[in-house]
Amino acid sequence: MIKKPLILGIESSCDETAASLVTENHEGKPVVLSNIVSSQTDIHKEFGGVVPELAARSHIEKIDWIVKKAIDESEKKIDEIDAVASTAGPGLVVCLSVGLSFGKALAKSLGKPFIAVNHLEGHALSPKISSQLDYPYLLLLISGGHSQFLNVINFGKYKRLGTTIDDALGEAFDKTAKLLGIEFPGGPKIEVLAQRGDPNKFDLPKPILNKGGCNLSFAGLKTAVLKISKNIKNEQDKFDLAASFQKTIEKILYKKTKIAFDAYEKQSSPKKKVLVVAGGVAANKNIRNMLKDLCVSENYQSIFPPIELCGDNAAMIALVGLEKYKLNKFNELDFPAKPRWALDEAAIFLKGAGVKL
Ligand code: KG4
Ligand code: ZN
Repeated sequence: MIKKPLILGIESSCDETAASLVTENHEGKPVVLSNIVSSQTDIHKEFGGVVPELAARSHIEKIDWIVKKAIDESEKKIDEIDAVASTAGPGLVVCLSVGLSFGKALAKSLGKPFIAVNHLEGHALSPKISSQLDYPYLLLLISGGHSQFLNVINFGKYKRLGTTIDDALGEAFDKTAKLLGIEFPGGPKIEVLAQRGDPNKFDLPKPILNKGGCNLSFAGLKTAVLKISKNIKNEQDKFDLAASFQKTIEKILYKKTKIAFDAYEKQSSPKKKVLVVAGGVAANKNIRNMLKDLCVSENYQSIFPPIELCGDNAAMIALVGLEKYKLNKFNELDFPAKPRWALDEAAIFLKGAGVKL
């Protein structure tokens, strides 16, 4: 029997240190043999956000035992690994450097190829771990650092259709949580508080809803939440503000996803219409359900990663490594950390004051 590739994936782009071993079965479907994620929330919560130097130090302290644990749990031996894949970007340069250097050194010492992985490509492919995923598809990537609509034409071939011009969606959730006095990272807790609130209590703005195509903007929401949060009197007000914020996000994504459907169909005329939603915010059940319903009414198939693979993990990095391994796409050991590595490198930078839409 032909030996299937065994790939070690390493992730350290932000505040999760992660390692995973992935292979595939005889049908060519990926199989996750181990998936270890160690989060640093305890280190950063007193600062209300990720402190790059502390994050990097923690990655350095943990990376060797996280990788060892991933190998042990996979029940494979280190010399059975066929290639080492590390996230090379985008992310915090001091954090990326830890997983990247470790991965390169391990690959070299094992005499195996090294593969540099784009973290966003990991998110883009993450649903493949549990679902059939064929090209092309429309990707809505909503994480703590990115919010984009992309036409995924093929493996490694992306055309950006829209992006946030200011905050990422996860960032908007985390900032709202902070204003409500919720500890970092508060995004997932907004979802919990929202369950007990009235989503129609506060009327919040929906920036650039009727202009800018499927580009997104969330910074104005934070300002509105800030104003209201100053007058919060009791717990119920908090629940209502969380619910109103989440509902507003749903309305923005509903409208912008419809616009993205049109842009995607114009660009790619797909035979089968598929929307993939990935990234940390794809774990939000209200957003998932709203997008599922929208897809049903617009004749799209919706595909989401399993909830536990929406956030940062190394299984998605190993998965990209596996795809690249099969294509013999390896990298030299001088491959640099790329803090701003975009999926569509031809797309123009659209951020900050004065952006023309
Ligand atoms: O993909 P991810 O783990 O890291 C990045 O690549 O950025 O995404 C993390 C983001 C954080 O901003 C977090 O608050 C948000 O995803 N997030 C959520 C939920 N779970 C995670 N936002 C809203 N609802 C959730 N359930
Ligand atoms: Zn991520």
